[in-house]
Amino acid sequence: MTQKTSEDQTTEDQMPENQTTESQATENQTTGRGGLFVTFEGIDGSGKSTQCRMLAEALSARGREVVLTREPGGSEGAEEIRRLVLEGDPDRWSAETELLLFTAARRDHLERRILPALAADQVVVCDRFADSTRMYQGLSRGDLRGSVDQLHELMIGHEPDLTILIDMDPDKGLARAKGRQGHEERFEDFGADLQHQMRAGFLALATEFADRFRIIDGDRPIDLVAQDVLTVVLDALPATQSESPKT
Ligand SMILES: Nc1ncnc2c1ncn2[C@@H]1O[C@H](COP(=O)(O)OP(=O)(O)O)[C@@H](O)[C@H]1O
Ligand SMILES: [Mg+2]
Repeated sequence: MTQKTSEDQTTEDQMPENQTTESQATENQTTGRGGLFVTFEGIDGSGKSTQCRMLAEALSARGREVVLTREPGGSEGAEEIRRLVLEGDPDRWSAETELLLFTAARRDHLERRILPALAADQVVVCDRFADSTRMYQGLSRGDLRGSVDQLHELMIGHEPDLTILIDMDPDKGLARAKGRQGHEERFEDFGADLQHQMRAGFLALATEFADRFRIIDGDRPIDLVAQDVLTVVLDALPATQSESPKT
């Protein structure tokens, strides 16, 4: 299964609200001085949503303003598009139309939520981003990687500062993800073979974008994975920003 994230119904729906105000938005700025854009990627069941929440909590406890968000979705308009792409008949959209919808959702999310937060020096922790589209729409839904890249350049033009790939055995990931229920079922279970291909694809992306990717072994106890995630993120944050205690 791909971006079927039915567990989100009980978890990510409880994400803290974005604390960014519209007045903090800076139109032409992509990254605030102290802001950091962190994304999580990896196969289904690898622990992305779990680690996103734990990272957001750990950074908040260190006095950082954090925006915890997800894709598809993350802004009001993009959440509406999320319903269009994740619910309903698997044949509801062609691969090309689906790519346009994901791109439209991402553009709205970027404009309304991510860029304003970065301009306000906040840390944006995002559960999936463009790398998921490179993988799923670029590979599994037809060989659309060229179109994915062109659309990204034209309409998004922004990469994360840091992408954490939670890597793990696809069969174990599938076992973890099994049993989740929800109504976001448009993406069918691709089965173990495709999950193995997806893992290899994510690892290839990590090589392609080696400057921003960090690979973390997700096949360990949750707290150990979280420790490594926090270390990598603190390394990427300006020292003065990461150490300031909450007052
Ligand atoms: N390191 C881990 N060890 C064991 N179980 C985990 C671990 N990380 C997450 N889980 C569990 O596995 C399931 C899938 O995790 P989740 O964070 O939803 O993955 P993803 O968002 O990547 O699909 C959840 O039930 C979660 O509690
Ligand atoms: Mg998830």
